[in-house]
Amino acid sequence: MTIVNEVVRLEIEDRIAVLSLDHPPVNALSRILREGIATGLGRALADPGVEAVVILCEGATFIAGADIREFGRPIAEPTLAALIATIEGAGKPVVAALHGTVLGGGLELALACHARIARPSTKLGFPEIKLGLIPGAGGTQRLPRLVGLSHALDLILTGEPIGAARARTLGLIDEIAYGDLRSAATAFARAHLEQRTPLRRIAADAGRLAGTIDPADMFDAAKMRHARIIARNDAARGALNALHAATRLPFEEGLAREREIFAELMNGPQSKAQRYLFAATRAAAKLGDLPAGTRPKPIARVGIVGAGTMGRGIAMAFLAGGLDVTIVETARESLGRGVAAIRSAFEASAAKGRLRPEAVAGRMARLTPSTALSDLAGCDLVVEAVFETLAVKREIFGKLDAIVRPDAILATNTSHLDVNQVAGGSKRPERVIGLHFFTPAHVMKLVEVVRGAKTTPEVAATAMAFVKSLGKVGVAVGVGDGFIGNRMVRVRRQEADRLVLEGAMPWDVDRVFTGFGLPMGPFRMADLAGLDLGWSREASSGRSLRARLCEIGRRGEKSKAGFYDYDAERTATISPVTEGLVRELSEAAGLQRRAITDREILERCLYPMINEGAKILEERIAARASDIDVVWVNGYGWPPVMGGPMFWADANGLGEVLEVLRRHEPALGSAFRPSGLLERLVREEGSFTGLF
Ligand code: 3HC
Repeated sequence: MTIVNEVVRLEIEDRIAVLSLDHPPVNALSRILREGIATGLGRALADPGVEAVVILCEGATFIAGADIREFGRPIAEPTLAALIATIEGAGKPVVAALHGTVLGGGLELALACHARIARPSTKLGFPEIKLGLIPGAGGTQRLPRLVGLSHALDLILTGEPIGAARARTLGLIDEIAYGDLRSAATAFARAHLEQRTPLRRIAADAGRLAGTIDPADMFDAAKMRHARIIARNDAARGALNALHAATRLPFEEGLAREREIFAELMNGPQSKAQRYLFAATRAAAKLGDLPAGTRPKPIARVGIVGAGTMGRGIAMAFLAGGLDVTIVETARESLGRGVAAIRSAFEASAAKGRLRPEAVAGRMARLTPSTALSDLAGCDLVVEAVFETLAVKREIFGKLDAIVRPDAILATNTSHLDVNQVAGGSKRPERVIGLHFFTPAHVMKLVEVVRGAKTTPEVAATAMAFVKSLGKVGVAVGVGDGFIGNRMVRVRRQEADRLVLEGAMPWDVDRVFTGFGLPMGPFRMADLAGLDLGWSREASSGRSLRARLCEIGRRGEKSKAGFYDYDAERTATISPVTEGLVRELSEAAGLQRRAITDREILERCLYPMINEGAKILEERIAARASDIDVVWVNGYGWPPVMGGPMFWADANGLGEVLEVLRRHEPALGSAFRPSGLLERLVREEGSFTGLF
């Protein structure tokens, strides 16, 4: 065995050179790895005793892509492009032995090899679009030649990886290795030699592109399939252009076009925002203040108290995560309704092909419905998801104290209550934490993990690891009304409501937000969530537009009427009823309605929200500005290409945010009173995202 450098080894066994790469955590193609591969490969190719080469990786995964940390800086030699050309041009067969997540540049390197063999659990994909990029080392040119244009469009536009079995069907890999990967890869290379299989160089062969009768039709079909991804997405348009080049230009020219588009995207605002979010999401997953040696505990059995909308959604998220779930509800009928709703939601997913039919039965078998809290005795974690009433939540925690193990975690799913007060209902507040799931909890990725004053570091670490294990994005937050997301939404809502009274219509406000780039505005979003959240007929003030709508049965999209009217396809149209109510309410408030500009709407709704974000940072409810952005992207549909509200404010200029707030404060009040942090940052020419 020869050590090539710190991260690459070379072993020669009976004519086969095995180049093994070991660059944790994900074998990203940093300069040191590229150097090691180039040197090791050079030696193997020059060695007359070597007839074939296998490239494999140690650790959890084959190469998961280019090293994102090197982006935006000059690229050091050897470049990935040069390395890939050397591999493909080699005169001896080079076989890629794949496992883990073969992504981006890792898959491009594998495509330059003459054959690919993979473990059954391998995932392969081009996630570049999620970083605002396209594959930049030949992926857009080799992939369609290998798997055909239509599949290449799907893989590159969605960025979603596929499994080994599908990759085998598409021709992306040549073989699945069911036994030991290294032995299978060397045996494969040996068979390659013995059968004198010609070296397959994808670049030299039009492959499946040669059989493409009408690429224009395929592009049109892909544009329809992925219309939502393509809208306002520079990388998606870049991918279409690069794939278009693949269909009409010789390989080298196509490659040059790909490189050009890649460089443009890398310097563009969207990729900067998306790369920021990549780092932000990983930063959010880390608790910076844990004592050394704090380890998360495993969670296998979970309990849920409450089978209403939230309880059901949370149960579905847990079942999808492979956990055993006990769900408790006081009345047998409500429990039955909850379980039936869970089953039918899973069945609907299966009918749409999103879930294997047998998985429905598997998930339901892991669900234990019960009307007795005592059935939660064996749980590692219990989440209460009952009404947002402090006394009820405290009482449940008091009862759970006598039931669950002393080391179990008690979680409250609250969207705004004081977690310290909820924890006070238990004799072990140190094992209490808030888990704020977003509706529908089985779909929405965000979970605000609320650390109470007494929550132990181990409980916090366990909760964060648990949320990640569900495939969700956890953001640690401090105790404070509405935490991060709802607190900022509330400020926006107050101002949007005020604008409507003064002269705008709900659809004017929404249009400004969709024009700004958000998928929907605050009123459409409220209709989706349900206008009766927190509303009851008995306590209805009857004074706000929302209350008036609820009183006449317009409860949002679910009742086919809210701020908007809805048809059977859930298309929203302007509602004359809402318009009439708006005018009535303005009159009752003694306001002379006036024309309000789009600029005023944006300034009054967005800028105080950013100001609130600054206050959240000052109060340490959020540890970093990027955590706020992660909340908005994963919980409120803020488009990743725009980075998040705090990132947007930095990019747009904090001076302007401050000026707008100051201008409106005298007339509009406290939401516009600039936070001290914002004032300081403007004075010091700092930024939110540069703070920590
Ligand atoms: N470059 C640099 N660091 C990377 C990286 C990459 N491509 N991918 C992951 N990492 C780092 C993460 O930042 C994290 O670092 P940290 O511990 O310091 O926070 C660490 O690896 C572990 O990452 P995760 O926490 O995400 O670990 P998971 O096990 O949950 O996921 C993964 C592993 C599926 C590989 C996931 O990290 C991932 O999706 N990575 C991004 C892959 C990607 O986008 N590849 C394409 C890059 S662009 C490219 O290749 C361009 C080319 O076409 C030229």
